[in-house]
Amino acid sequence: MKKNNFLITGGYGFIGSCLVRELLKNQDNRICNIDKLSYSSSIDSIKPNGEDNYKFKKIDIVESNKIKEVISEFEPDYIIHLAAESHVDRSIDNPDQFIKSNINGTYNLLNEGYHYWKLLPDDKKLSFRFIHVSTDEVYGSLSEKESAFLENSVYKPNSPYSASKASSDHLVYSWYKTYSFPINIVNTSNNYGPWQFPEKLIPLVISKCLKGEKIPIYGNGLQIRDWIRVEDHVNGLLTVLDKGIIGEKYNIGANCEKTNLQVVHDICSILDEVIPNKEYKYNTLINFVEDRPGHDQRYAINSNKLKNLGWNPSVSWEEGIKDVINWYLNNKNFLNLENNGTYSGERLGRL
Ligand SMILES: NC(=O)c1ccc[n+]([C@@H]2O[C@H](COP(=O)([O-])OP(=O)(O)OC[C@H]3O[C@@H](n4cnc5c(N)ncnc54)[C@H](O)[C@@H]3O)[C@@H](O)[C@H]2O)c1
Repeated sequence: MKKNNFLITGGYGFIGSCLVRELLKNQDNRICNIDKLSYSSSIDSIKPNGEDNYKFKKIDIVESNKIKEVISEFEPDYIIHLAAESHVDRSIDNPDQFIKSNINGTYNLLNEGYHYWKLLPDDKKLSFRFIHVSTDEVYGSLSEKESAFLENSVYKPNSPYSASKASSDHLVYSWYKTYSFPINIVNTSNNYGPWQFPEKLIPLVISKCLKGEKIPIYGNGLQIRDWIRVEDHVNGLLTVLDKGIIGEKYNIGANCEKTNLQVVHDICSILDEVIPNKEYKYNTLINFVEDRPGHDQRYAINSNKLKNLGWNPSVSWEEGIKDVINWYLNNKNFLNLENNGTYSGERLGRL
């Protein structure tokens, strides 16, 4: 039986681990997970059945010689690239690592991936794909009346994070145009789900409520984000891998625009039902703080191009958020990771 070899970068992160868990459901998949293991990695998020189908290599993608080594040893059929610094607030305070991992790291993967691909036999060369996982933030900020981002929307990144992701998207596309390297770029909206490091909005709010601490909200909290369950994102990635046209970009979103304040209120009212506090309602913990510099007002993403390939999001916000809150309540130890994280700023998360 032919095995499919998937090289996944950032596989111990929030989205990468969801992808690996999904791929491990199929016995015919072999996975090699490259991750440097940073503050946002969770090694408990993947439980392989044995070493036959799953390998982990602790590698920083900034080190090209190690990437070269692992690619030639593992012989991937597909590379799905998720490793990146992912937190906007950290990029504002300390952009350096974002340039290294998101731009230089992506360059290394492209370069080593291309040299490997070039020498593959014709049939393998034809089926090989490099999927680059990127964000809607590369398109910048929308006003309330503007239409949702399309794949050909102009890039206007506003934070060091989104600028570093935009740079990596441009590099990936140039490897297709210049070297015919078979890529897809996927731009996705705000993900939510299990195993998201609790500096990001949803686990952060749950964690603050459980600790009875103030919930910081940037500015007036009316910035809009478009939310998608991480499992729907992962299914979208696999649809692109399976049916995407080489060299094309695909947006992934679930058409679920919410203000940050709505998200926080929704979480608070579910917690009021599930674990009521006798003394106060959870939304009384809300505390408006000074806005983030360069804060984007609105993201909204049009996924019709991917829907035309047969993909659709399967989880509504109402069921998705309840289920995710439940997961965090059953995994309170994970929420305490906040204390082990290196980030201690008051900033809120990927808003
Ligand atoms: N979380 C979202 O809502 C969202 C939305 C759109 C796109 N994305 C993109 O999806 C990808 C994954 O995001 P996430 O939320 O899972 O992030 P995450 O921070 O939870 O995980 C990132 C993982 O990448 C690893 N990593 C970072 N730099 C590395 C390096 N130099 N070498 C090796 N490993 C490295 C980290 O150790 C971590 O395990 C990123 O590329 C991000 O830009 C995220």
